[in-house]
Amino acid sequence: MDGITDAPMRAFQGAQNTFTHSVTEFIRVSNHPLPTRVFIRDVPELATRAKTTTDLPVQIQILGGDPDRMAISALNAVAAGATAIDINFGCPAPTVNRNDGGASILRCPQRVYEITKAVREALPASIPVSVKARLGWDTIEPIYENAEQIQRAGASWLTIHARTKTQGYNPPVYWKPIGEIRRDASIPIVANGDIWTVEDFYLCQEQTRCSHYMIGRSALANPNLPHQIAQTLGLQTLTPIPPVDWPKLLQEFHDHSTNFHGPNHPKSLNRLKQWLAIAARFGDFPHFANLKKISDHQDFMTTLTTLCHFQTSSNPLKLVEISHH
Ligand SMILES: Cc1cc2nc3c(=O)[nH]c(=O)nc-3n(C[C@H](O)[C@H](O)[C@H](O)COP(=O)(O)O)c2cc1C
Repeated sequence: MDGITDAPMRAFQGAQNTFTHSVTEFIRVSNHPLPTRVFIRDVPELATRAKTTTDLPVQIQILGGDPDRMAISALNAVAAGATAIDINFGCPAPTVNRNDGGASILRCPQRVYEITKAVREALPASIPVSVKARLGWDTIEPIYENAEQIQRAGASWLTIHARTKTQGYNPPVYWKPIGEIRRDASIPIVANGDIWTVEDFYLCQEQTRCSHYMIGRSALANPNLPHQIAQTLGLQTLTPIPPVDWPKLLQEFHDHSTNFHGPNHPKSLNRLKQWLAIAARFGDFPHFANLKKISDHQDFMTTLTTLCHFQTSSNPLKLVEISHH
């Protein structure tokens, strides 16, 4: 996710040992093919066989509308050390779409085919090329034709975000078409979109029968969800899953940020706030208002620890109060 799943976040997620796979933020190919150095700069994991230091495989995602420039960029990414390439046909951002990239390509299945095929043909067969797509621009039907073109072009798998571009991130999600495509597909289909709880996951699983799932925002809003889903899929046997320990998780993430940016970099604290803003908006993290204005990391962590500790220790008190009445 652009602005979120950067190298420190990928390293952090690798340490949680729940995801089997991660994808970089999209890297945009515009007027010229991207040279090797851009990938080396943006994706430090390329120096370690495209895995985080915490052993999570990292796939490079590229975005653009010109088949040749996309193909040469993908080739350069592989020369830089990439072991898998993903093509973004999902981004709904107006600046991206105006410049012929992301979800705008979905309006023309022939272009979806040509871009995917050009990237596929440019790379050695040992390098998987996958696609991330939305259902369509303003209707859901284009995904059927686009999924066929993506398979015909030789993609190794297809991840489908169950919304149209015009929906942005608004409800509803349409998981059913993902199931229909999965049923007839010759490649693995990865289901994505609005899996916020284990119940959502079961519903999505029921409607899609997919073997593979991608989750984005909910991994931050509810950090236990990846553990719960991994367990459901038989990927992990950490039972019982302990309650979310926000200070511990945020300190761990901060340590990974410090490894990348150096000590006391303002970006590191900002990223903690960004995470908690997502947890407050989409999850049940209650303390964001008390934390967002703090500008010192130590102060931030102390306040966070106090607030979280107070919250935990106040629960038994409430029970005592209730038992008095
Ligand atoms: C801030 C933000 C940035 C995103 N950036 C990307 C991106 O770079 N590449 C991509 O394929 N999807 C991107 N997405 C879409 C997510 O990967 C995902 O498809 C979407 O959030 C729905 O899944 P979720 O409900 O599990 O979050 C982004 C989403 C958000 C909210």
